[in-house]
Amino acid sequence: MAITVDSLKKVITIHTDHSSYQMQIDRFGYLIHLYYGQRTAELMDHLLVYADRGFSGNPYDAGRDRTYSLDSLPQEYPSQGTGDYRSPMLVVKDSHGTYGCDLRYRSHEIIRGKYSLDGLPAVYSDSGRDDAETLRIVLENKRTGVEVSLLYGVLPHLDIITRAAVVANRGDETFTVERLGSANLDFTAGGFDLMTFYGRHAMERIPERRPLAHGETVIGSRRGFSSHQFNPMMILLDRDTTETEGNCWSMQFVYSGGFRAVAGLDQYGQTRMQMGLADEKFSYPLKPGESLTAPEVIMSFSGAGLGPLSHHLHQCIRRHVCRGRHRDRIRPVLINSWEACFFDFTGDMLVELSREARSLGIEMLVMDDGWFGARNDDYRSLGDWYPNEDKLGCSLGELIRRINQEGLKFGIWIEPEMVSEDSDLYRAHPDWALAIPGEKPVRGRYQLVLDLSRREVVDAVYESICRILDQGPVEYLKWDCNRSVAEAYSHSAQDQGRVLYDYMLGLYDILERLNQRYPELLIEGCSGGGGRFDAGMLYYTPQIWCSDNTDAVDRLLIQYGTSFGYPASAIGAHVSACPNYLTGRTTPLRTRAVAAMGGTFGYELRLSALTSAERDEIRRQIADFHRYADLIYSGTYYRLTDPVHNPVCAWEYVSEDKTEALICAVILERGDSSSAAALRLRGLRPESVYTDMITGVKYEADVLTDNGLQLPDTLTDGDSMVYHLKL
Ligand code: GLA
Repeated sequence: MAITVDSLKKVITIHTDHSSYQMQIDRFGYLIHLYYGQRTAELMDHLLVYADRGFSGNPYDAGRDRTYSLDSLPQEYPSQGTGDYRSPMLVVKDSHGTYGCDLRYRSHEIIRGKYSLDGLPAVYSDSGRDDAETLRIVLENKRTGVEVSLLYGVLPHLDIITRAAVVANRGDETFTVERLGSANLDFTAGGFDLMTFYGRHAMERIPERRPLAHGETVIGSRRGFSSHQFNPMMILLDRDTTETEGNCWSMQFVYSGGFRAVAGLDQYGQTRMQMGLADEKFSYPLKPGESLTAPEVIMSFSGAGLGPLSHHLHQCIRRHVCRGRHRDRIRPVLINSWEACFFDFTGDMLVELSREARSLGIEMLVMDDGWFGARNDDYRSLGDWYPNEDKLGCSLGELIRRINQEGLKFGIWIEPEMVSEDSDLYRAHPDWALAIPGEKPVRGRYQLVLDLSRREVVDAVYESICRILDQGPVEYLKWDCNRSVAEAYSHSAQDQGRVLYDYMLGLYDILERLNQRYPELLIEGCSGGGGRFDAGMLYYTPQIWCSDNTDAVDRLLIQYGTSFGYPASAIGAHVSACPNYLTGRTTPLRTRAVAAMGGTFGYELRLSALTSAERDEIRRQIADFHRYADLIYSGTYYRLTDPVHNPVCAWEYVSEDKTEALICAVILERGDSSSAAALRLRGLRPESVYTDMITGVKYEADVLTDNGLQLPDTLTDGDSMVYHLKL
């Protein structure tokens, strides 16, 4: 049993194999958080400190006991107006405009299996196999009729605990939810570091670690989507935690819209960490009987450093978030037309590209942007999802047939959430775009965002995608989204504060329907590269184009940051041409392939421009990828260096049975002696001897682990090494 209850002390404990999470219903009915950390059988209420502290609110029920204050006690779901002046999870305004909602415990239940959420992505369990359980705790406020069901899911063997919350109106009058959080973690201690993952277009998810200070460190996205600027993930760590040692706690949002994540030290040196919906432009009325779900947060704890924390998250995302037939399959090696031709292609050129690709061992051609409407640049035609037969020289069905005939599968790009002003769709339905009446809309890449909070728009978008997919065997769809939302204004909504949340429900509805109708279709998420790289999208699309930056050196940093929360099987990565079109940098073809093998692997360059030596090399790369793919997709991943602060980027995959390992290293900047670095490997079987299948050299595991694998000191900037060790 993962969830146990001590009815006498009113303590509920959730156990995973290596962690425990504990809470207590106290004498006033408040749900007090006691502990999250290393697995323990102890009752942790001794961590609570009661003291008379000035200017801290005391609930009326506490009478003359001034030592009881929610301003200092750790809580599971702090709400506003209770005398806790820290960041609340829930802000509710009643129909008279009154704020405040004092939530007390009503009931709880323990359910076998993992809960799911209506209309929203969530971690799922393999029924019966992983001992998953759900804890549901109901809190209520009698005055307003606010009922909050806190949901806790546990995958004990993966050390994963999830949280979500459902707010329901059980009263007689409408109230408005002005802030809705999903997970809160209070610690009675301080002294932590915080890691967040910041970035921008073409440079996403760079890890940043700093000591947590007094006040609140807030990250988030007010862009309607999870964003390039901050990934919806954060990690709290002990100051001395490393990859291999120390405590760390993570939160990761299973949601692709705006978010707000907070961590900070309070006045008493205690720590609060929380994650939930962005509250700007959010004001969600609930009529009697209605409910609203706070999306899920995946939490994990590791007492053995960041490496194991990532392993929990990788396994969770790979096997309990990603779904569908492609979840466990090695994805086809593809050639994408974008960096090969941008908008400048014809059907014949794509057929020619397919022929060349086939001769190299590539398995799928993806026709990127530019195939529809009058789209020869990015000023027009989004929304007009009918093939430009003049440009293609034939129908889409015929083009797919010709490409299949060359021996390649066919994939296509689409950006269904968007509309260009210069499009038939916009001319017919200008009110389908999010825009404020009487104001000129904000443009982004010269396009507007469709109003997916409206049912008729959702249906129309869904049907337009089906029309394309029904024209032939389309085996892959790249789902793009190339701007942020600026105006959360729907022409049909009465309550504009619902629009951004309802948009996400609309988006997920389309993706769910597509997954049901086309179970063999592989969908790759994308948002100008990695602008919506989150566990929410991964529920529908088992891989996401990681970044528009395909420069191998930059990509390694991006993939390094991404690896903290997401497995390699989720990371779309391609080899592109040099000098790189974004950075101007030239890196050896070999290194570009080593970087792309940090993900799903493919190509995105003009194949006709390759020399015959390069073509031979690509054939070898693809053969290598097939040799390593199982290890990359399902091996345990170790970060061997921190490339943000280190001139070498090195990582390792080890098979579950430890009989095989793949080690990759790239010299980012040689300096005087950087390439002479020794990489201390991890996860190998002690007291055994591995053979490098590439060179035949034998290595003792203990030497590799204790002393390290010595990189040749002849390597220079951009050079790479790969070792394929087998027992
Ligand atoms: C975005 C994507 C690219 C490409 C272009 C096409 O930027 O991230 O990979 O598909 O759009 O316009």
